[in-house]
Amino acid sequence: MEDRSVTKTKMLLAFLVLYASTTCSQCDAAGTISASQTVRYNETIVSPQETFELGFFSPGNSTNHYVGIWYKKISIKTVVWVANRNAPLRDANGKLTLTLQGVLILRDTTMGTIVWSSENSSTTSVMNPIGQLLDTGNFIIYEEGDDHNQEDPIWQSFDFLTDTLLPGMKNGKNLVTGIERYYTSWKSEDDPAAGDFSVRLDSRGYPELLLLRDGQEIKFRSGPWNGLRFSGNPNMKPNPIYKYTFVVNQREIYYQYNLVNTSVYTRLVVQPTGHIERLLWHDSKQKWDFHSDPESDHCDQYAVCGPFASCNIYNSPVCSCLKGFEPISPDEWRVADSTHGCRRTARLDCGPGDGFIRYTNLKLPETQRSWYNQTMTLVECEKMCKTNCSCTAYTYSNISGTGSGCLLWFGNLTDIRTFAENGDTLYVRVSASELDSIKNSKSSGAGRRVRVLVPMALVVLAMLLSMCLFYRYNMKKKQQQETSGNNEDLELPLFGLSTLLKATNNFSINNKLGEGGFGLVYKGVLKGEQEIAVKRLAKTSTQGLHEFKNEVILISKLQHRNLVKLLGYCIEGAEKMLIYEYMPNKGLDSIIFDKTQSELLDWPARYHIILGIARGLLYLHQDSRLRIIHRDLKVSNILLDTDMNPKISDFGLARIFGGNQLEANTNRVVGTYGYMAPKYAGSGIFSIKSDVYSFGVLVLEIVCGEKNKEFVYKDNWNNLLGYVWVLHNEGESLQLVAKCLGESVNVSQVLRSIHVGLLCVQRHPEDRPTMTSVIMMLGSEGPLPSPKEPGFYVGKTKQDTNQSSCSYGTGSNNELSITMLNGR
Ligand SMILES: *[C@@H]1O[C@H](CO)[C@@H](O)[C@H](O)[C@H]1NC(C)=O
Ligand SMILES: *[C@@H]1O[C@H](CO)[C@@H](O)[C@H](O)[C@H]1NC(C)=O
Ligand SMILES: *[C@@H]1O[C@H](CO)[C@@H](O)[C@H](O)[C@H]1NC(C)=O
Ligand SMILES: *[C@@H]1O[C@H](CO)[C@@H](O)[C@H](O)[C@H]1NC(C)=O
Ligand SMILES: *[C@@H]1O[C@H](CO)[C@@H](O)[C@H](O)[C@H]1NC(C)=O
Ligand SMILES: *[C@@H]1O[C@H](CO)[C@@H](O)[C@H](O)[C@H]1NC(C)=O
Ligand SMILES: *[C@@H]1O[C@H](CO)[C@@H](O)[C@H](O)[C@H]1NC(C)=O
Ligand SMILES: *[C@@H]1O[C@H](CO)[C@@H](O)[C@H](O)[C@H]1NC(C)=O
Repeated sequence: MEDRSVTKTKMLLAFLVLYASTTCSQCDAAGTISASQTVRYNETIVSPQETFELGFFSPGNSTNHYVGIWYKKISIKTVVWVANRNAPLRDANGKLTLTLQGVLILRDTTMGTIVWSSENSSTTSVMNPIGQLLDTGNFIIYEEGDDHNQEDPIWQSFDFLTDTLLPGMKNGKNLVTGIERYYTSWKSEDDPAAGDFSVRLDSRGYPELLLLRDGQEIKFRSGPWNGLRFSGNPNMKPNPIYKYTFVVNQREIYYQYNLVNTSVYTRLVVQPTGHIERLLWHDSKQKWDFHSDPESDHCDQYAVCGPFASCNIYNSPVCSCLKGFEPISPDEWRVADSTHGCRRTARLDCGPGDGFIRYTNLKLPETQRSWYNQTMTLVECEKMCKTNCSCTAYTYSNISGTGSGCLLWFGNLTDIRTFAENGDTLYVRVSASELDSIKNSKSSGAGRRVRVLVPMALVVLAMLLSMCLFYRYNMKKKQQQETSGNNEDLELPLFGLSTLLKATNNFSINNKLGEGGFGLVYKGVLKGEQEIAVKRLAKTSTQGLHEFKNEVILISKLQHRNLVKLLGYCIEGAEKMLIYEYMPNKGLDSIIFDKTQSELLDWPARYHIILGIARGLLYLHQDSRLRIIHRDLKVSNILLDTDMNPKISDFGLARIFGGNQLEANTNRVVGTYGYMAPKYAGSGIFSIKSDVYSFGVLVLEIVCGEKNKEFVYKDNWNNLLGYVWVLHNEGESLQLVAKCLGESVNVSQVLRSIHVGLLCVQRHPEDRPTMTSVIMMLGSEGPLPSPKEPGFYVGKTKQDTNQSSCSYGTGSNNELSITMLNGR
């Protein structure tokens, strides 16, 4: 009773303050608003501990006005909830009022209309409604009285999420009220209206979270919760900041995370680009940083491999059928299109003979057509699966402890991936005969397996053959360069700063080879007269020393004849340097764009260079253990050795600078106008495809000897791509090469290269081939698909363009490398 009178006095006070002075900007220290009270345009409600603030705001450059909730103590205004996201106020004459019925209404006082309200009608009758902003960021409306009313409010903003999942918010369904709580991206940074992407719970089978586009197309699955983590995120570990909980009972099903350390700010956001990001506020840096974001690579694309196949990012090709299954359309598998998936090689008997093959380290298949019981044992689970012929797999529903519960799948098993470690176990049903043949396959390779293997073997053989041919071609040209590559397991040498100072003559300006987005490059000579190139990194890397060193060592293990070799590194004080082999022939740009030099580069040499770049890129994208997206591929980043073998340089630097941001492909995009794909969007595959785009531009530039972005033809074309596209459609492609290549031209190779180049620069990333297909297309004689219109990069983005980039091969280059933050 004491308490109540105190709060009453407080509120009375607040009331008086509010009405006494219209200039009050924080209406109430307790964060409450009572019936008939109004929050005006430049007033706010602040939560008791001043964690959150509710009021009017205009996002980004928008001139519209919204009511929202943001962090009060954070210097960057970060809005976590928007009331009227789809109904903006056009001017500053808004008024937010709590009615006597307990409904929050937002009025446009100019027009006199209600633009938004918390509910259309209140179901229960209310006497004394109070609105309060809590320190959790939840705005609740409840009947004044005992505390219980606060726990079960009439209305709460946590039931209507915007694009942010705060600690304590529920992502899921209330089975009693029917409310579904899910969050949806903003349209853009300037427009909080509901955008394309949302994160929702699919409760048709065992509940799991889905990232949906336009409410239906699945982009990504989290994988079911296995008691410890999401099945799709094997690296998720208990951490000192937050803890996930998964609740499923008669009343509700939801996922939620709660703070372990309440002095930390963290949030989960779905961005307008469709990325789900876990952000953490860093007080010292005064910025939001990524904590851990769901990895995003090719295998995270929903169902890339189709039913009954598994995606493994470390394999090439990434898709393979489960044991006892074969590709439905082997022809398409051969060209790395696996979306049709696999089918059984032998029908199930549906009798007691059927057995199960145990897989480990998987992301469990989509659970839309699944069934679960949390108290059954694994033995009961197997029995249950066997008795129903449409049951295709089973496993534990909860792996914590010794494992418990039962999860069954019916019909197709889709969107499985294989991890290196920490994945889940799955038992997949196969027929008795298949089980036998798999058991015996070591000794006698059953006929069916051969059927599966032959097409695959052909692909492998073809690739091996083309590599051999390529290899021999190179061997003829040079014999002596065979000593490299035998130091695979050596630790990467650490150079002392003094050694490098001596080698480069104190980084003398005369030794400068070039200047790149990542720093300056100097030529140096070591004691043994070995020539080196030293890249002195600009001091913008966000990495710590330890991470930097690990990353460099990882990257040094990438060894490919078409990548510039890293010889060592240096870390001393604030200096970070990378030491590369020296390339006497400099950058490709200094040759092909130079009138006299380019005549020396005949067609066979150019074709050799194109193939080499393709192989280097394939290695980065697919075959290496790091899976790197170059993101700044251009002519000046291709260096030539003494035998004119192309070597890609600056690979892995984006990785060093972005840290783990590259893997997640979240907010950092680097590139150079003229080479940048028109649309960086979606997840990993699009970034690989943007390299493919740059590769396409490179091919066309190499064939034509013209710069894409500087190309002007009779005022009609302002870039090379458009011109090549028109000539291609008119069947006049050969006009392009008439000038300097003379008699050395192999007509069909030239036409093929141009054709492949055009396929690579198509507007839509999904139309562009992967590097695997590029290499197959370049190396074969078969028909090629027709290219669609190229995409042109129309540059109008937020960026800092202060970094001019050209690799160390040249001094004449003035292209700009662009770093965009949040640009995708
Ligand atoms: C904000 O408050 C000031 C008084 O401090 C007042 O003059 C001004 O008109 C108010 N602005 C709006 C948009 O209500
Ligand atoms: C928003 O305004 C800032 C500063 O005026 C400007 O630099 C930026 O380009 C604008 N952004 C958009 C998307 O228009
Ligand atoms: C508004 O009220 C109607 C009828 O009571 C109900 O069907 C509808 O779902 C309500 N809308 C919202 C947004 O609550
Ligand atoms: C909580 O986080 C803060 C800030 O990061 C840190 O200083 C504090 O030690 C943490 N507390 C616990 C109990 O981990
Ligand atoms: C299962 O996969 C096959 C092959 O892709 C497809 O034809 C079929 O429609 C799928 N079945 C269901 C229920 O999705
Ligand atoms: C789950 O399995 C247990 C033990 O087999 C059984 O008692 C229980 O009824 C089952 N629950 C459901 C919902 O089927
Ligand atoms: C097998 O499971 C499916 C899917 O749950 C169900 O529709 C069907 O009735 C079951 N069949 C038998 C024989 O239990
Ligand atoms: C999973 O199993 C553990 C240990 O047996 C138990 O504490 C936990 O509640 C279970 N989780 C669910 C979601 O059933």
